[in-house]
Amino acid sequence: MKDIGGVPDFIEHWGPQPFRRLGYGLVAASLGSWYLAHLSELNHIMPALLSTITAGYWYLGLKDLGQKHQALRSNFPVLIHIRYLLESIRPEIQQYLVEPDDVALPFSREMRTVIYQRAKGLPDTRALGTKHDVYAEGYEWAAHSMFPKHVDEATGGRVTIGGPDCSQPYSASILNISAMSYGALSGPAVSALNLGAQRGGFYHNTGEGGISKFHKMGGDVVWNIGTGYFACGETLPGGKRRFDPTLFEKNAKLDCVKMIEIKLSQGAKPAHGGVLPASKITEEIAEARDLGDGPHTDCNSPPHHSAFKSPWQLMRFIAVLRELSGGKPIGFKLCVGQPHEFAALCHAMLETGTTPDFITVDGAEGGTGAAPLEFQNSIGFPLAEGLTIVDSLLTGAGLRDRVKLIASGKVHSGFSLVKTLSLGADVTNAARAFMFSLGCIQALKCNSNTCPTGITTQDPALSSGLDVASKSERVSNFHAATVHSALEIVGALGLESPTEIKRSHVYRRTSGITAKDFNRQHSEFFPLIYKWQSGILLDDIDAVPEYMRRQWLKGKELHERMRNQEVVAMPGGVPADAPMSAYDKQALETFRKYDTDNSGDIDATELRSALDDMGASRDVNVAALLKKYDSDTNHSFDVVEFTKILKQVQVSGVLS
Ligand SMILES: Cc1cc2nc3c(=O)[nH]c(=O)nc-3n(C[C@H](O)[C@H](O)[C@H](O)COP(=O)(O)O)c2cc1C
Repeated sequence: MKDIGGVPDFIEHWGPQPFRRLGYGLVAASLGSWYLAHLSELNHIMPALLSTITAGYWYLGLKDLGQKHQALRSNFPVLIHIRYLLESIRPEIQQYLVEPDDVALPFSREMRTVIYQRAKGLPDTRALGTKHDVYAEGYEWAAHSMFPKHVDEATGGRVTIGGPDCSQPYSASILNISAMSYGALSGPAVSALNLGAQRGGFYHNTGEGGISKFHKMGGDVVWNIGTGYFACGETLPGGKRRFDPTLFEKNAKLDCVKMIEIKLSQGAKPAHGGVLPASKITEEIAEARDLGDGPHTDCNSPPHHSAFKSPWQLMRFIAVLRELSGGKPIGFKLCVGQPHEFAALCHAMLETGTTPDFITVDGAEGGTGAAPLEFQNSIGFPLAEGLTIVDSLLTGAGLRDRVKLIASGKVHSGFSLVKTLSLGADVTNAARAFMFSLGCIQALKCNSNTCPTGITTQDPALSSGLDVASKSERVSNFHAATVHSALEIVGALGLESPTEIKRSHVYRRTSGITAKDFNRQHSEFFPLIYKWQSGILLDDIDAVPEYMRRQWLKGKELHERMRNQEVVAMPGGVPADAPMSAYDKQALETFRKYDTDNSGDIDATELRSALDDMGASRDVNVAALLKKYDSDTNHSFDVVEFTKILKQVQVSGVLS
């Protein structure tokens, strides 16, 4: 067969005419076979078969020729369906026959196999050494010690999350289930994850689709709150969603809710929202999201939050959520984008005195049920860089001790967990690895409701095949074996606890003959700030490299600009549609009490009385406050300045 331009020539020469010629031939052959069968009294199976094929051939071909939308069907009637068939089974052919063990698509066969083995409790050792080329660029390894140690699993695998303002700190495992909503996952899948978390003593993040009954099987829950405010919001006419503090308080106080995570963005689709069409809102989904009684309209999750619009307001929102939840750890999740924006968050933390209890950093390599290709492939910082930026800026701002870092991005094995900790994380989350532990075969059908394993589908015919009891056991087996492997590695590095892991323990080959530890590897991109340099951005900014200094100062400018803009837009610094804490309400009322002439200002004497009313210490130095906050030297304070003074008094107690 001659090959023209990569296509066999019988395909090149195919078209309506050859289609008809072959069709007439088939008709003639069918008639002939009936005639022969009749003459020689043969079985009629052959002619019947040939006639069916002929009828099917003409039916399909005439349909192809009759339609106007697809040129390929008009030009290559019938034959084109072979191409469509091959295309539809390409992922399966790729996975079963073509895919090498170590190529990630997005998870390699090797990665998946170790998860399956550990989930099933099977032996996970390998024969005859690594299959990786240890001299290839990108190869990574951890450097062991000549003096290995034993790490106690009971204590070594846990980290307490909760900063100074949190009254209900949570003891988290170093590996947990990352956010995946009920809706993205089926009810049985969510139930199995939750029961697995309960069995293994780790947490299960709800994802932004609210808290469903499947999340209440006994496992610890981290409640993920997206811009749709599911289970803590109300729907406005037109489908817009707004935060509802009363509903939030009710659900935040559920026993199973151990921590609350405000989702700013995620790696697979940073700064991208979504719409849940009314047609997809089943009774169970409506219940999980607290949408009230139907009929429901489309639910909008825009790319941005409406409860806060600046770093400063985000910190206030965190303080409000902490109070409403009764002091539970409050954090936020993001995929890092522009580094100076994270610096702006640090400035807001410093100014308000409010810090999140945790920050979850998601890498651009993260997964999701459905996202545009460009957002999956080309937006946001990968985990290594994102985590480094967040860790360094928090350390430089002297805030790292108050905030725990959680990281997610392809954690699936002991080494990937250790590597993630070495980049600055305290705790890790995994989403897709736990899906594999449930039996996901990477069929890549999460966005089509036809997941063959019943994990990412709402079709009961498929999800009912997922056995909750046995899968929950696999979830906890995978968790236990992976944490065990990570702690074994920690011991092999000569350390007694995962908290001692440093960037210098892990190496990466940068070319055939060079390799760098993560200190050198990552400091080239973003200057690192080490633990011993804590607070350097405040104390000695000139000592940090130029790029870092620029990000820090740009962040300050951004934070101040956004805060000042909102002061104009929202008098009193109170977000128009954000809830106020009881403390904030009291502050506003106190200000109004002393602003007797309604001028929007109080003088220094009135300030003294207002501070007394708010319970501030008599030692507070009003003269110093005057110097610091009376920027226009008119010896009076507006409500924004008053709010700032209160925060300052709260943070440092006394101003000297
Ligand atoms: C099916 C699916 C649904 C997800 N849903 C959410 C979500 O609702 N909220 C969220 O913050 N992240 C969501 N994610 C992102 C994951 O929580 C996680 O951050 C990301 O996949 C990286 O972890 P991995 O590499 O271990 O999968 C989802 C991921 C997947 C695969």
